[in-house]
Amino acid sequence: MCGLFAYVGSVNAVPILLDGLRSVEYRGYDSAGISVITESGSIETRKRGDHKASLNNLHSAVTDDQLFGLVGIGHTRWATHGVVNHANSHPHSSVDGSISIAHNGIIENFLDIRDELLDSGVELSSETDSEVIAHLAGNYLATGHSLRDSLVKTVGQLKGNMVVIAVATSEPSKVVGLRLGNAGGIVVGKNEDSAFMASDTVALLSHTAEVVYLESGQVVEIESGSFRLFDFNGKPIEGKSVKTDQSFRAAQKGKYPDFMSKEIAEQPEAIQRAIAGRVNLVSGELEMPEITLSANQIRSIDRVLITGMGTSLHAGMFGASMIESLARIPASAENSSELRYRNPVIGSNTLIIAVTQSGETADTLAAMEYASQQGSCQIAVLEQEGSQAARIADFTLPIHAGQEIGVASTKTMIASMTTLLELSIFLARVRSVIDVDRVKQLVEQISTLPSLVASTLDRNGETSDVAKHLAKFTDLLYLGRGSQLPIALEGALKMKELAYIHAEGYPAGEMKHGVNALLGADMPTVVCAPNNHLYEKMLSNISEVKARGGEVMAIVSDSDDTLERIVDQVIRIPDCSEFLQPFLTLVPLQLLAYTTALELGRDPDQPRNLAKTVTVE
Ligand code: AGP
Repeated sequence: MCGLFAYVGSVNAVPILLDGLRSVEYRGYDSAGISVITESGSIETRKRGDHKASLNNLHSAVTDDQLFGLVGIGHTRWATHGVVNHANSHPHSSVDGSISIAHNGIIENFLDIRDELLDSGVELSSETDSEVIAHLAGNYLATGHSLRDSLVKTVGQLKGNMVVIAVATSEPSKVVGLRLGNAGGIVVGKNEDSAFMASDTVALLSHTAEVVYLESGQVVEIESGSFRLFDFNGKPIEGKSVKTDQSFRAAQKGKYPDFMSKEIAEQPEAIQRAIAGRVNLVSGELEMPEITLSANQIRSIDRVLITGMGTSLHAGMFGASMIESLARIPASAENSSELRYRNPVIGSNTLIIAVTQSGETADTLAAMEYASQQGSCQIAVLEQEGSQAARIADFTLPIHAGQEIGVASTKTMIASMTTLLELSIFLARVRSVIDVDRVKQLVEQISTLPSLVASTLDRNGETSDVAKHLAKFTDLLYLGRGSQLPIALEGALKMKELAYIHAEGYPAGEMKHGVNALLGADMPTVVCAPNNHLYEKMLSNISEVKARGGEVMAIVSDSDDTLERIVDQVIRIPDCSEFLQPFLTLVPLQLLAYTTALELGRDPDQPRNLAKTVTVE
């Protein structure tokens, strides 16, 4: 989950590297560092391993030094091996200083390699697995191999998924990068006199409008104004160019204090984009042009298994409930890290749906690979269309949420839910479970979703009092039933990852099976209790909490005139059809977590210990 950036060009690389690292900092920000090839031909490295301040401190360090070079690499780190400190920060150099590398991924046979190096007399300067790459590659360089060959030979000795970028004094006008497996990507771009590499497209948006994504087993050399791709056998290959249609603005905060609040506010727009091209609001028809399965193939689906991690798993849970209730296909959602290892029975008539905004989550990719081997049809619901998941799946359903910089997912959740809802209706229609009139009815209601979410956002003020109160507690309980359960789980996840408060999401029906023991004044309960077929059940759960001295904050419908007299605080959402309610209860829970985080002085864009894309398991 680290951020990588590299530059070769005609101006000082240092400010460009720092700017590039700023764009990928959300992938990991424990520490940061750069290496440049100076005018004297040597490699100069500057790094800072002091947690959050690392990139800012690095910035001042290199500015004070007047560091200069036309070729360089940079890295922002999310620690996997070795504590967060200066020595463990990347880039890492060989003993003779002939090469400097930055790495993303995990070297699974690191201990064996380390012992071999120690036995050969190499003195390691860090606890990281990455450092061994610099030493092994340095040995190859010392025997006359090119930088590209040295890296490929080095990686050939290593086990695991990784991305490596490197500079060497023997070839001072280029940077080499390679990708092996699913440890995140490398995207390459150029303009008239420069060339760039990065772990994310967003870092290249201000430099180029066209990029190439490296596949696993590919290596790239970038030089001033050009780049060349090869396979690991040295055969030149033509990369597939992709236009970067994510507007640069999307990567900026605009009028918002942080990306989190911007992306929460963008949700009506995100829904609109997820609807466009699939829902015809005039004719009331719904199409999924991306899915070219025949009607018979769709009718032969006998099970839907949705997989994802974190927020994407919660979106998947919502999708499973929609598919089962609308298309009447048995559907479930499962955590990818569990699915991939339990040797699941996946038949050829099982439809696998992977939900992954980045398309690079290691566990989700592994679950997809497993499912592919079982011969099932796969759909990937994702944001990053050039990602690994898009390559594994048979069909991709872009969610069109736009670049999401905040580590905590918000608009990608609601866009994934919208896309999964559309898919549910599509499957139900093709299987003749619903007729065209019912489709029209559902489409008409979906068309109101952007404005319903917008009006829910406008009620942000109702969450600030609740947030101030919840910020005083260390434990919170979130309860939901049916399609509100994934929302309760998501609300709890947001509170954990943004405010660092222990928050547990639970099926409300579980209360009597142990959870009641926790109830009391020291643990408030947040409940999703809109007017729906499970409202009465939620009412009795709320009474259980109140009877045991617990406070209750309830998300309720506008027309609810009961709960206000029972609970401690209510946050209201507009009245709407039950299948749209999860989109609306989600919003105040996002705002609650965001506002509580601010109340506690947390950084909402870069929560501690987290990274936007988890490319290692
Ligand atoms: C949630 O706010 C986090 N960003 C995290 O749980 C995320 O949803 C999860 O890591 C899955 O990421 P993906 O959608 O890119 O696969």
